[in-house]
Amino acid sequence: MPRPRQITIIWQLLMESSVKGKHIVLGITGGIAAYKSVTLLRLLVKNGAEVQVVITPSGKEFITPVTLSALSGKPVVSEFFTANTGEWHSHVDLGLWADLMVIAPATASTIGKMANGIADNMLVTTYLSAKEHVMIAPAMDLDMMAHPSTSRNLALLRQDGVEIIEPAAGELASHLIGKGRMEEPENIFRRIEEYFAGERKMAGKKVAITAGPTYEKLDPVRFIGNYSTGKMGLALAEEFADAGADVTLICGPVSLKTDNPKIRRIDVESAEEMLKASEEPFAKADIGIFAAAVADYRPESRADSKIKREGVEDMSLKLVKNPDIAATLAAKKRDGQQFIGFALETDHAHENAAAKLKKKNLDAVVLNSLQDKGAGFGTDTNKITILCADGSEKTYPLKSKREVARDIIDFIGRVNAAR
Ligand code: CTP
Repeated sequence: MPRPRQITIIWQLLMESSVKGKHIVLGITGGIAAYKSVTLLRLLVKNGAEVQVVITPSGKEFITPVTLSALSGKPVVSEFFTANTGEWHSHVDLGLWADLMVIAPATASTIGKMANGIADNMLVTTYLSAKEHVMIAPAMDLDMMAHPSTSRNLALLRQDGVEIIEPAAGELASHLIGKGRMEEPENIFRRIEEYFAGERKMAGKKVAITAGPTYEKLDPVRFIGNYSTGKMGLALAEEFADAGADVTLICGPVSLKTDNPKIRRIDVESAEEMLKASEEPFAKADIGIFAAAVADYRPESRADSKIKREGVEDMSLKLVKNPDIAATLAAKKRDGQQFIGFALETDHAHENAAAKLKKKNLDAVVLNSLQDKGAGFGTDTNKITILCADGSEKTYPLKSKREVARDIIDFIGRVNAAR
């Protein structure tokens, strides 16, 4: 029987907020909603987070640094130097110190500067040095929110992995009614708690992911390939790493970079190379994801020197089948391993995806249909349905690829919890 003091300790641990002990940079910009940031700051500090406030010069027109430093227990940073002492504030150190950066409220101007790298104040400079996750809670008038320039900048930020906490609809500072009101501080706090709770979700898990296209060489200068850019696979790798997993990414030729130190990346070119490089990481993985758009066929032979056209009127190519990486590796699946494939379909989408799930011995298939606008190769968004081997399925709305990656991770987490 646990004694009363032990019960108290267990209860305290259960009740402890996931923000406890976390280092958070809270960015505040010049909008009416800045007054709500005080509540957010209080919630963070009360629940044990260490918060460094960075405020833009116009933010100070709305809320005084004195209030913010009293609540956070730290001097508020706004300029590159402290005027009277000349002390330099290092945005690089702040970026490294932070476990999370939250900008609330984020005005249209700050969003534009962040999207375009205009580092003319301490806040945007800190953002550019931030290594960890960044969330922004936009707040502006409805016309500004609806302007194509704001949508464009938000889309760029999403693409860069920034999480947007969508503004709510309601009465705005202008007394107009519409979308643009900053999300309530309690809800932003809840999202921050969820983020840190999720960070531990995949801790200790080994994850292997194939991504991008494969190139099948015809001669030294030509290949057969496809339009895959690897965005979905890389977004998954980033999100799994953020959730604490140990990720190996086996990637076909893509121009995207991965600078997350928690991702081990193996670059390959052809389907045969991808299979070879995937054998070991998938054998060791708890979770395996096949997000690559593998070329199903390759030229039967490859010329060692450039194929010349002189004297050749027409040409036909003999293609031979490539290995099916997902089917080959899933045939060796051990108990407890979870393997998930993708299915990009143009027609009979559901039927085809269900058939792939079965045929390839997968635990789930993420279906994206080219019939859906915004889904498929090269886009920053995706619209998916997850089909599970037990017959259950879930359809999601159109989202950014990073958000889709989070949905897939949540889905896997829920399946595991139910086991
Ligand atoms: N896949 C694979 N190796 C291949 C072909 C596909 O690993 N040679 C994987 C993909 O990464 C994806 C799943 O299998 O997770 C389904 O891929 P898809 O291209 O949709 O299906 P195919 O099996 O190639 O069938 P088809 O192209 O005829 O639709």
